[in-house]
Amino acid sequence: GGGLVIAIDGPSGSGKSSTAKGVARARDLRYLDTGAMYRAMTWWMLTHGIDVADAGAVAEAAECPVITMGTDPDAPAVRVDGVDVAGAIRTDEVTSNVSAVSAVPRVRELLVARQREIIAEARVASSGIVVEGRDITTVVAPDAPVKLFLTASAEARAQRRSREVRAADVAATQAALARRDRLDSTRSVSPLTQTADATELDTTGLSLDEVVALVVKLADEAR
Ligand code: C5P
Repeated sequence: GGGLVIAIDGPSGSGKSSTAKGVARARDLRYLDTGAMYRAMTWWMLTHGIDVADAGAVAEAAECPVITMGTDPDAPAVRVDGVDVAGAIRTDEVTSNVSAVSAVPRVRELLVARQREIIAEARVASSGIVVEGRDITTVVAPDAPVKLFLTASAEARAQRRSREVRAADVAATQAALARRDRLDSTRSVSPLTQTADATELDTTGLSLDEVVALVVKLADEAR
């Protein structure tokens, strides 16, 4: 297939989701939020009373939920066993437990395989796909012609995330983000890492439109 793949990694609040969706809309590409898949897996574990601190139990249970993703950037659906969990996966409970679940190797094996299927399908059946997460440039799609690492200052990231979740306490949001970034960057399997061949984009002083325009330019050059 000839569809374009744009891989975007970065820490929480760096602007990955808004950027990825904006680029997908601008160039009629599909959109995959891999974080939503780890959140969906975590939601299922919590709902079924699995102790997320027990990696063995998580690995065993990980085979059970059927996670399906919609890849329309205007309606990015997430379903677990047919149930729409788009809202349920954004709770504080899921957010504070997702790093433990995503650190389990079997969970990653299963979800990375699924992500690669979605990417392969998009390459054949559409003009391409924008994929965002923590290990897209390194593990899921290392051969993507466009690879980006988005960053932003800790303050900018906390402010954005607070606006998104309508939290009044920016300091508490910043502390929670720092904790999750530390867990995601230090785990042994596929930690969030910045590779030399990914283009770094510091979004701190930029508007969303500016970031989207920069990425669209890179995408057009890669075609
Ligand atoms: O992107 P988002 O903040 O929704 O991701 C939620 C969590 O999913 C991250 O904190 C990380 O633990 C996990 N994740 C991951 N690998 C990805 C995407 C997300 O481990 N590719």
